[in-house]
Amino acid sequence: MKTIEIDGKTFVETFDAETITGWIQNVANQINHDYEGTDPLFVGILNGAFIFAADLFRRITLNSRIQFMRLRSYDNMSSTGQIQELLGLEDKDVAGKDIIIVEDIVDTGTTMHYLKQRLKDQGAKSVKIACLCTKPEALKFEDAKPDYVGKDIANLFVIGYGFDIDGLARNLNAIYTLKK
Ligand code: IMP
Ligand code: MG
Repeated sequence: MKTIEIDGKTFVETFDAETITGWIQNVANQINHDYEGTDPLFVGILNGAFIFAADLFRRITLNSRIQFMRLRSYDNMSSTGQIQELLGLEDKDVAGKDIIIVEDIVDTGTTMHYLKQRLKDQGAKSVKIACLCTKPEALKFEDAKPDYVGKDIANLFVIGYGFDIDGLARNLNAIYTLKK
């Protein structure tokens, strides 16, 4: 079993790059099918989703645009419950659009609960959520339940493939889980 040490903690490799690529292709296939003939706006959530967004968007065959927002709800290893919008979208970019939020991981759903309402307030026609991973056991907001999911995972802290610990480990090519 491959393990790594970061910040004095041990993480165990849980999903390899090939497995993750399979999930992303599945998500892309579903979106390409469901949105056929339309041009949804993809909204990637920085920082964590930049790797997933790049991999997903290159598998999208729709005539779509992608933009990015930057939100922050996490402080090191736990959700603070408060959302800060560090980089937003203009109303004119959102109004009347079918939006697909591209998020790295939906945990408590606080971020997605906030963002769905925010985009609707800005005039979005529809808002759906695509994420690489979700932790169903941790979800606190029903409306934050993602529509397109790479993989449901256990309620444990993960790093790699965009997921970070205090900004580190995003560049790992696999997903690693904190050892209990
Ligand atoms: P939520 O608002 O509680 O759903 O948290 C969502 C955000 O927390 C995600 O965008 C991630 O950036 C971060 N997050 C949640 N779980 C993890 C994890 O296991 N590892 C790294 N970041 C996480
Ligand atoms: Mg994030």
